[in-house]
Order: sequence, then structure tokens, then C-alpha cells
Amino acid sequence: MSAPDRTQVAIVGGGPAGLMLAHLLRRRGVDSVVLEARPRQRVETRQRAGILEHGTVEALREVGADARMDALGMPHDGFELRFSGRSVRVDMQELTGEHVMIWAQTEVTKDLIALRLEQDEPLLFDAEVLSVEDVETDSPSVRYRHDGAEHVLRADVVVGADGSYGPARRAIPDHLVRRFERIYPYSWLGILADVAPSSHELIYARGRTGFALASMRSSSVTRAYIQVPNGTDAADWADEAIWDELAARFALDSGEHADREPFTLARGPITDKSVTPMRSMVTEPMRHGRLFLAGDAAHIVPPTGAKGLNLAVADVRVLAEALSEWFATKDETLIDAYSDTVLRRVWRAAHFSWTMTTMLHVDPDGDPFDEQLALAHLRHIATSESARRALAENYRGLALGAV
Ligand code: DHB
Repeated sequence: MSAPDRTQVAIVGGGPAGLMLAHLLRRRGVDSVVLEARPRQRVETRQRAGILEHGTVEALREVGADARMDALGMPHDGFELRFSGRSVRVDMQELTGEHVMIWAQTEVTKDLIALRLEQDEPLLFDAEVLSVEDVETDSPSVRYRHDGAEHVLRADVVVGADGSYGPARRAIPDHLVRRFERIYPYSWLGILADVAPSSHELIYARGRTGFALASMRSSSVTRAYIQVPNGTDAADWADEAIWDELAARFALDSGEHADREPFTLARGPITDKSVTPMRSMVTEPMRHGRLFLAGDAAHIVPPTGAKGLNLAVADVRVLAEALSEWFATKDETLIDAYSDTVLRRVWRAAHFSWTMTTMLHVDPDGDPFDEQLALAHLRHIATSESARRALAENYRGLALGAV
């Protein structure tokens, strides 16, 4: 497919943020072109998190990318926390009246791509953006390379949804940008395995030697993670060593849970192994002139609690409303408010993800004060319904406008 050389909204990045924005805009009568630097196959196979908040599910329904999610996604009413050999269930449905959906980001992306192509709307893969220009004028443009030739796409607005290393953000002059960052002193080793999940709900554990998470992709595929040192090479971890470590970190005291089935970790062939570093990053502002940033291009959260995709979708829901209002009426109120509006949610999620991360991971530098704070927090969650409700509200996601 070749793209037009002019559109209303040029979207740099064909991940979930860019694709969802294109769909929401189309439903509001606004044209866009999506330029994705990578090949389709790479975008569709990258393993990311797997939990959708209620608002993300709603957005997928609105754009009509919900059929496979409804058939194959798994609604979850609660999750489990484990620490000091004990287990606490957080019952989201009871505490908040809502659940989350287990449905992998990879699958969301596949559905959004398929729908865009089915609609015969412009989406280019292998389109490497070279620069975003003239964002301080009313005719910004994107220069990109595709099929061996250079092209220029002119637009009324450019949206940078091109991830944390993408080129769009560079169009904002350095002296106007504030960047906040936290690098965590550990990474996640994630696996996919062909074995039924050991638990019907997710388990987040603070084990003696570090964090572990039991998740799933279907009734026959387990997804799991363990905390590992920064710089770990996934190839250095033998499959059995990963299972042993997961089992140790999920272990419960037998006395404590004498009334329940003993927990056994189901092991099976590991089909994918990868290491994810953990960091938080926020860049402000998320708008400069006719350039708007969305998703990872403006903010990264550590994966604990799975907020990354949900934040990206929340950004573009606000942005689609703001842009369509502006195209229809030329009223600038919503586009002027975009950056401040979405940054309030971004910082809420940054705090939640930081809390979940520090509460559940073991600091390799062994700060004993931090460890006691983390355990005190976990015991508070175990004993206080209002603490569990606060956790559940953040986990299932706050409504647009509630932050
Ligand atoms: C998954 C990832 C997360 O970061 C999380 O908090 C829960 C689940 C997952 O990949 O399934």
C-alpha cells in the first residue's frame, strides 16, 4: 500500500496507541495515516503484558476489535498476593464491582491491524520516520523512508505514538522538555510455557529471593515472570532452574493454609524466554504546537500491575475526543487541556506501578528498612479492607475523568 501525501492526523507508530487512535478518529470522521517502522510480523509477535482494564475493553468494543477478545479473553474477578509464606486474595469484583480481562497485548495489536487493513485505511509497515517537522506551524509534516524512497506526509496534526525511543519526541525543543526517570535495580525474566496455568487467578509473590508472577495466556498456556539481576541473559537460565525458582517464590507455609489445596506449580515445555528491564519515565509536556505524544513515547511504567498498554489507550481516548472536537468546531479547549489531563493519570499510574514494584521486589542492595516497609504494606493489605479496595481500584483502572 502507498499512503496519501496529505491527511488530517499523521500517526507515527503502529503499536496499540497509534492503531487505537486511528480507529477512534475514524469513528469520529477524522482521517489519519499510520506509519510503523517495523515489519508487520515483528509488531504482531512481540510479547508484552496481558491485562486489560475495563476502559481498555470498552475502547476495543467501541472500535469493533472485540470479537476474539470476547471469545478467547478471560475475565478475572481477583488476584492473589503472596509474601512471608502466606496468601491474600484481592477480590476486585467485590471491592470495586468490576473485573479485568486477561487478553494479551499481542492479540490486541493483531486485531487492531487486521481491522485497519480490512477497512482499507492507510497503515504502512517498514516506514521509517526520519523526522517530524514544522510542528510550530499549522502545516506540520513527517519525512519517512518506505520501499527505498523518501516521502513527505503533510498533516494538520502529528501524533507521536512511536515508543520510548521513537523519533517524534525529538521535535520538541530540549529546553521545553522535563524528563523524569527511575531505573529499578532488577529486571524480569518472562517465560511462555505449554502447560495449563497452576492457578485460575494471577499470583503476585514477594518470595525470599525476589518477585514472581504467575499469569496465563489461555487455559493451556502459562505466562510467568521472576525477578532477576539487571544484565541477565535469558539463555543463562535453564528451564528447570526457572521452574525451581518460581516454585520457591510461590511456596506457602503449610500451617498457614492447612484448609486449602496444597499449591503445586505445573511445569511444561518453555517456548519463549526474554528479559525486560524495569524503569519509570515521564516526559512533559505531551504536546508542542501541532505535535501530540501518546503512550510509551511520553511515559514508561515498570510492568508490575500491567499499566503500560492501559495508559496508552487512556491517552488516545482523551486525544481522539480532543482532536475530533477541534476539527469539528476549531474550539481549542480540549486540545489545550490534553497534556495536563492525561499526565494526571500518568502520574497516578507511575505511583501505582512504583508501589507494586517496590512492595513485591527484593532490593539486591538489601536495604533492610525498605524491606520492612514493603512487608508492613503487604500486611496492611492483608488486614484492611480499605487498603485492599484502594489497591483493587488502581489495579482495575480508574475511570476517565476520575483522576
Ligand atoms: C502480565 C504482566 C504483568 O505485568 C502483570 O502485572 C500481570 C500480567 C502478563 O503478561 O500476563
